[in-house]
Amino acid sequence: MWDLGVEGGTLVTRMGLIRANLYVQGEKLGAISVERQRSHRSLDARERLVLPGVIDTHLHSRDPGLTYKEDFDHATRAAAFGGVTTVLEMPNCLPPVTDLGSFEARRAHLLPQAHVDFGLWALALGDANLAELPRLAAAGACGFKLFWGYALDRRTLALVYNPAPDDDVVPPPDDAGLLRLMDAVQATGRPLAIHAEHRGLNAALIAGVDPDAPDTYAEFLRTRPALTEAVAVETACRLAQATGVALHIVHLTAADSVDVIRAARARGVDVTAETCPQYITLSDEDFPRVGPLMKVYPPVRTVADQSALRRGLADGTIAYVASDHAPHATHEKQGSLWTAPAGTPVVETMLPLFLRLVSQGVFTLEDVARLLSYAPARRFGLYPRKGALEPGSDADLVIVNPDHPWTIRAAAAHSKHPLSPWEGETVPMAVETTVVRGQVVVADGELQTPGAGTFLRFGAPLS
Ligand code: DOR
Ligand code: ZN
Repeated sequence: MWDLGVEGGTLVTRMGLIRANLYVQGEKLGAISVERQRSHRSLDARERLVLPGVIDTHLHSRDPGLTYKEDFDHATRAAAFGGVTTVLEMPNCLPPVTDLGSFEARRAHLLPQAHVDFGLWALALGDANLAELPRLAAAGACGFKLFWGYALDRRTLALVYNPAPDDDVVPPPDDAGLLRLMDAVQATGRPLAIHAEHRGLNAALIAGVDPDAPDTYAEFLRTRPALTEAVAVETACRLAQATGVALHIVHLTAADSVDVIRAARARGVDVTAETCPQYITLSDEDFPRVGPLMKVYPPVRTVADQSALRRGLADGTIAYVASDHAPHATHEKQGSLWTAPAGTPVVETMLPLFLRLVSQGVFTLEDVARLLSYAPARRFGLYPRKGALEPGSDADLVIVNPDHPWTIRAAAAHSKHPLSPWEGETVPMAVETTVVRGQVVVADGELQTPGAGTFLRFGAPLS
């Protein structure tokens, strides 16, 4: 007798759609069968799609330290309601995760609030914490994140979003510093994730802006053009080629960068890239309607960039999609385009927005299983424990109603601040049920099992 059956649905796998029942024993998927079997509990999935749980490798919950913006309870609740069953949490909280002590303290602090499974990124500062990297890897960090392109506040090590000339900051490593960092990360066996914008170019372009000029989006884009991303991505790929590090470029935004990644992969460089819902659903043309809520770094660019990113995802140049969920407080995002901090809430709408792209014929359902679950799981060594509907995998799954249009209303969503760049937009399919390791976490519009998430210690045998 199985613990749980998910019966009558259409299973969405990266290889195709299957009409079958799923059976769960404890935390694991036990069987996929056309015949009905006996189970203690059953979820009715007739006329529903059953997808592997979404794996979001890029989440900023702000917790601890910046919890007026967001916290882990809210962020993982939003994840669960959006069909996300695993999140990898970014290290730019306060204090940031730069050493073993801050890593262990954060793990203990987040665990009781986790509504979905989670792993933790560690922050790579460059030479300042090279010696800590082996300890962070041994403690189970999923990888190291370099905010290449950001200066950090010297006192708190917080990101400086809108630098002023007299700020007391720690600049990001130069190329030689990045080479040393890559050697050190390579030795740990974990990936290095890079926010790729060229700080020198950005700083020079910002310096040329007339502070009294009207803050148009075109002017904003001129201060952070595709060039600064493509140059940073190219340098990172060349250095990765020399060191053999597993390089992951977060939030790719520009057509030029897609070309750089394609060429590097063709040379055999171990580089993957992600892009995010904001870059494949929004463009500069949306700014008059959406406003600073869509200010993110690197910026949302043109329709031509959006098309290149979609093509990159379709042909495998860009490995997968992540949210870059990066909330700020409502009053902060109501500032001007120049003063507002960069970042916006995404995790709850990522799967629904992607399903809208499916209904628009841009992607297939098989692409959803690949780009939101399988490929991120593969990159981080989570597959086959996670990332697919396969016997022996964790029972992480999402039940979607494909015939249930609904309208995105941030006030009804689960992040701390009721903000969404997609406010008022209608999506054609609804996430109804989210199961994490066999536990029904979301059903009937309610959080059914609070605190169901567990910590994923990377590097250790995961299955
Ligand atoms: O827009 C962004 N917000 N880009 C980043 O790189 C960081 C993030 C944040 O943490 O606010
Ligand atoms: Zn981010």
